Amino acid sequence: MSTSSRARLGILLSGRGSNFEAIARNVLAGRLDCEIGFVFSNKPNAPGLARARELGLPSGAIDSAGVERTVFDLQVVDLLKSHGVEWVCLAGYMRLLSGRFVSQFPQRILNIHPSLLPAFPGLDAQHQALTHGVKVTGCTLHFVDENLDAGPILLQATVPVLDNDTVESLSSRILVEEHRIYSEAIAWVLKGNYRIEGRRVIKT
Ligand code: GAR
Repeated sequence: MSTSSRARLGILLSGRGSNFEAIARNVLAGRLDCEIGFVFSNKPNAPGLARARELGLPSGAIDSAGVERTVFDLQVVDLLKSHGVEWVCLAGYMRLLSGRFVSQFPQRILNIHPSLLPAFPGLDAQHQALTHGVKVTGCTLHFVDENLDAGPILLQATVPVLDNDTVESLSSRILVEEHRIYSEAIAWVLKGNYRIEGRRVIKT
């Protein structure tokens, strides 16, 4: 394990891992003052995990299929803590965290969601936005609690919905903003110049 005092991030993903890669690029280029301590997936074949291996980052998976949620979560917590992880970044991690997990990293778990929460939580947020007919959507970077896509909001970015948008075109424009605000939020929380009042995250 590294002896440096830089904050250590754990990144949790279930799929493609483009948000992870955007964060990793900024860390590896020295634009974010932290280290990636571990990249974890609940899907052993997740493309994001293969990318972590290519980048030479410590990574691993535990298949979540058929494992009781709290038991699984405590295995993941042990793995993250054994790699010195202090901050957890959910990056397309398609599982609800149990209270037992959340309480191990109090106000130190971040998530990105592809809508302007509290609109369109859960799966297929971009499809939900198109179906609902909203003219503006976007993405939300928030602290995680044990509820789905909830927790105090750090940053949001808006994206217009165009008349000829498909789920794919809208998702790819939102993704550009996701990649941008995730690293911005990490830089902010690592500096520590904020306080949380109820649901509000206030710059100090
Ligand atoms: C991203 O759009 C992220 O916002 C979304 O999954 C995608 C993962 O992409 N997350 C959620 O919907 C969480 N509720 P990525 O694997 O390329 O980062």
